[in-house]
Amino acid sequence: MVDIIKSQGWNWEIVSDEFADVWKNPAPESFYLLHRWKKQHKKNFLDLGCGLGRHTVLFASNGFDVSAFDISENAIERTSNWVKELGLNVNIKQGDMLNIPFDNESIDCILCMNVISHTDTNGTYKIADELKRVLKAGGECYLTLGSKETWGFKQNWPMVDANTKLRDEQGPEYMIPHFYADYDLIFKIFKDFEIVDIKHIGTYYTKDNKTYESYHWHILIKKK
Ligand SMILES: C[S@@+](CC[C@H](N)C(=O)[O-])C[C@H]1O[C@@H](n2cnc3c(N)ncnc32)[C@H](O)[C@@H]1O
Repeated sequence: MVDIIKSQGWNWEIVSDEFADVWKNPAPESFYLLHRWKKQHKKNFLDLGCGLGRHTVLFASNGFDVSAFDISENAIERTSNWVKELGLNVNIKQGDMLNIPFDNESIDCILCMNVISHTDTNGTYKIADELKRVLKAGGECYLTLGSKETWGFKQNWPMVDANTKLRDEQGPEYMIPHFYADYDLIFKIFKDFEIVDIKHIGTYYTKDNKTYESYHWHILIKKK
């Protein structure tokens, strides 16, 4: 058995709804995926690492059969409350992406937006196996991974392995593992899938007079 760092969810307790704008509004890519997967007649959607539930609500409001899970109890509680308020029907569970709490070949499409990076290198390979296990043949998964070009990978944070650091910065991700990939590593991790699309997206923001360059891989994979 290979060693994998212990999973640890976000500390959502310190993020109030009032300051959670980013996490309550769907990511731009999710609107494209909604359109793509509707056109493909996909039905069972999994929001892997659902956070506060922005994509769970989007897909459930648009006719998908939605399942969602997160390792954080607070995230599950807040997603459940939101779904209930809107009168939506969603299968929500607490669980760890290293052992996705759903049956083999039960899911048509998966969105993991800024989630899979929260483990180490061995963990990322294990999650790729789990994605393969739960997806139906022809099923798709859209996921993001931190890039080695992002500012975080250049910080002097504690290293877990050659690709993984512990985020030594106060906030909801304090001391949570962050795995960073480069182009070649992506092909190694997802060798069993068809890679439909890869984008390397840069986001710039300024905080306390310092400008950050944050790069993520956006990857669309398909189970063969
Ligand atoms: C950056 S947030 C993104 C939330 C959501 N995907 C979104 O786009 O709004 C990352 C989420 O991944 C969850 N997470 C971290 N490690 C996890 C694990 N091992 N299993 C399941 N969820 C995990 C965190 O608790 C957090 O809610």
